[in-house]
Amino acid sequence: MSLYAIGDLHLHFQSEVKSKSQRRDRIWRKHEEKLLKNCRQMITDEDTLVLVGDHSWGKKLADCEEDLEYIKSLPGRKILIRGNHDQFWDAKKTAKLNELYQPDLTFLQNSFEVYRDFAIVGTKGYTFEGPFYLDNRGRIFDWDRTEEAHSWKLIERELERLRTSFEMARTAGYRRYIMFLHYPPTNIMERESGFTEMAREYGAEKVIYAHSHGESRFHDSLLGQVDGIEYQLVSGDFLRWMPKKILD
Ligand SMILES: [Fe+2]
Ligand SMILES: [Fe+2]
Repeated sequence: MSLYAIGDLHLHFQSEVKSKSQRRDRIWRKHEEKLLKNCRQMITDEDTLVLVGDHSWGKKLADCEEDLEYIKSLPGRKILIRGNHDQFWDAKKTAKLNELYQPDLTFLQNSFEVYRDFAIVGTKGYTFEGPFYLDNRGRIFDWDRTEEAHSWKLIERELERLRTSFEMARTAGYRRYIMFLHYPPTNIMERESGFTEMAREYGAEKVIYAHSHGESRFHDSLLGQVDGIEYQLVSGDFLRWMPKKILD
């Protein structure tokens, strides 16, 4: 029995691809076929696979049904985290999605799931992504302050949702946590954030995130051991469509 994770499938069985790099870059060519093949080789029905957001380009649930059917067809128990592009998933209507798709898919929001003696906790997260203004040596000298102020509101809301997830797990008696975020836990100027603080506060053993696409973005946030917590990026193109084993 193992726990795996991968994010950013950006499926488009019924919708239009909205990213230039996904249309252009080799890594994205028939990526759903590569992922299905890799999952079938690695993952059994005893395993758990966490899909770390940006599942579909579809705007409404009706445009995502084939994408969700594809996710259902992957082996193992599937747990989904919300991504910024998942317009079909209104956080406040998560119960409805679970009603429609359980037991095949579990949409995790203001809740937690269990893996061995670990609680799987998580939320979409959020981080300020600019615009940043660079000097002629490519160093950041300023950034859009209005956008930054707006991002703080979104960060606060996501921190509340994450705390709800941790608190539910703790109240249920869990003391070991794996924390999932779609967004990286820190922005490109930070080494700490409300998300890293919360991971430390509850003693999360790992923080798993996605969202960063393309070589130039793979090092936007924390990777490896930081303050005793293991940070891992699991966006699909970073993993070359090979799900990452998180726990045995
Ligand atoms: Fe993405
Ligand atoms: Fe994303």
